[in-house]
Amino acid sequence: MGLTHDLFAPVLAGEADPPGLTHLPAFAVPVEQELLAAINAVATAAPFRHMLTPGGQHMSAAMTNCGEVGWVTDRRGYRYDRLDPQTGQPWPPLPACLTQLAGRAAAEAGFASFRPDVCLINRYEPGARMSLHQDRDERDFSAPIVSVSLGLGATFLFGGLKRTDRPHRLPLVHGDVLVWGGPTRLNFHGIAPVMEGCHPAVGRRRLNLTMRKAL
Ligand code: SIN
Ligand code: FE2
Repeated sequence: MGLTHDLFAPVLAGEADPPGLTHLPAFAVPVEQELLAAINAVATAAPFRHMLTPGGQHMSAAMTNCGEVGWVTDRRGYRYDRLDPQTGQPWPPLPACLTQLAGRAAAEAGFASFRPDVCLINRYEPGARMSLHQDRDERDFSAPIVSVSLGLGATFLFGGLKRTDRPHRLPLVHGDVLVWGGPTRLNFHGIAPVMEGCHPAVGRRRLNLTMRKAL
C-alpha cells in the first residue's frame, strides 16, 4: 500500500493537467494527413497573413480561418467577420475532418455535441509566440474551445481568469489536442516563443487549429 502510493503519487501529481484543461496527447495523429491537406486547401483560398493588432503591431503568428466566420484583427479591433478582408470573399468552409475531430475531442473532455462554426488557423515560425489573452469575441461562452497542435512543439501557457494568475506551462507536440470550457472558458492562455526545429511532416513551423463556436 504505502510503497505503491510512494512510487506513483509524485508521478501522477507531476503530470496532472491544470484543472479545467483536458490534454489529449496524440489525439489528432490518426488524421494528421487529412488535417494538413485541409489546411493547405484553406490557405490556397485564404492565404496566411500577419494581422495587425489594434495597437498597430503585426502578430508574430500568421493566421487564416475557415468556417461561417473568421477571427480578424486590425486597427479597428478584434472581431469575427463573414468575409476575409484580404480577398473580400467568404472564408472557405470548415472541412468535415476538422468538425468531426473537434466533436470527438470535446466529447472526450465531457462536452457533448460540440459543433464549431469557425476554425482559426495559426502558423508559427521559430521565434513566433502568442501572448496571454482570453478568447472572448464569441457570442456564447457555453461551448468549449478545441485546440489542435501540429508540427513543431511548443509550450502552452494556461493561466486563470485574471491576467496576473501565474500560468501553468504545458509542453505540446504534434497531434496533441487541448479542450477547455465551462468554468475555464475565459482563462488566459498563450504560447511561449516556438523553438527552432524541423518537423518531418510539417517542416519548420507549428500549426494550430483553434475551433470555436462564435455565432
Ligand atoms: C490561440 O490561443 O489562439 C492559439 C493557441 C495555440 O497556438 O496553441
Ligand atoms: Fe486563444
